[in-house]
Amino acid sequence: MASRAAMELLGEKLFADTSLSSNGLACISCHAGMNLYNASFTQEYPHRVNMAFDRAGLETVDAEGMVQLCMIVPLAAEPLPWQSRELAALTAYVEKIQPEYAAANPCAAANPCAASACGACGACGACGGACGANPCAAANPCAAKNPCAGACGAACGACGACASS
Ligand code: HEC
Repeated sequence: MASRAAMELLGEKLFADTSLSSNGLACISCHAGMNLYNASFTQEYPHRVNMAFDRAGLETVDAEGMVQLCMIVPLAAEPLPWQSRELAALTAYVEKIQPEYAAANPCAAANPCAASACGACGACGACGGACGANPCAAANPCAAKNPCAGACGAACGACGACASS
C-alpha cells in the first residue's frame, strides 16, 4: 500500500504528463501555479463546479469526479479506470492542493458570486452588479493577476484563480 505522500507525489508527476491527453495538454498546461481554478475550488469536496454542471449535469462533484471531468473535457481523453493508481494519485494530489488554494484565496470564498450558478469565470457576466459589488474585490490581492479579469471585466475580482502565480 503506497503512502499518502507517495500517491501525492505520483499525482503531481501525472499532473504534468501530456500522455494522459489526446490533445497534447497536461493538467499543468492550464493549472500551473494554481491557475484557472474558480471560487468553487476554495470549498471542500463535494461541491458544485460550473464545468461539471454545464458539461455533465452534476449538481456536485468530488475530487475524483473532477479529475475525471478534466480528463474528459479539457484533456479530450477517456476517463481513467476507476480502480487505477493514476486516478487515485491525481485525486490525492488535488485533495492536497485544494486546501492550499483555499488558504491562498480567502476572498474568493467570501465572494458573493462564488455560490451562484454563474459561468466559467466565476460569473462576472451572469452576476452582473453582484460581482462589481463584491466587498472583497478591493482587498483581493489576486484581482490584478486574475486570468479571468480580461474576459469578465476588471471590476470583478471574483474568479479567485491566481493563488501562488
Ligand atoms: C484546457 C485547460 C484545462 C486542463 C488541461 C485541465 N483543466 Fe482542470 N479546470 C479547467 C477549468 C477551466 C476549470 C474551472 C472549471 C469551473 O470552475 O467551472 C478547471 C477546474 C479544475 C479543478 C477545480 C474544480 C473545483 O472548482 O473544485 C480541478 C481539481 C481540476 N481542474 C483538475 C484538473 C486535472 C486533474 C487535470 C488533468 C487531468 C486538469 N484539471 C486539466 C481547465 C483545465
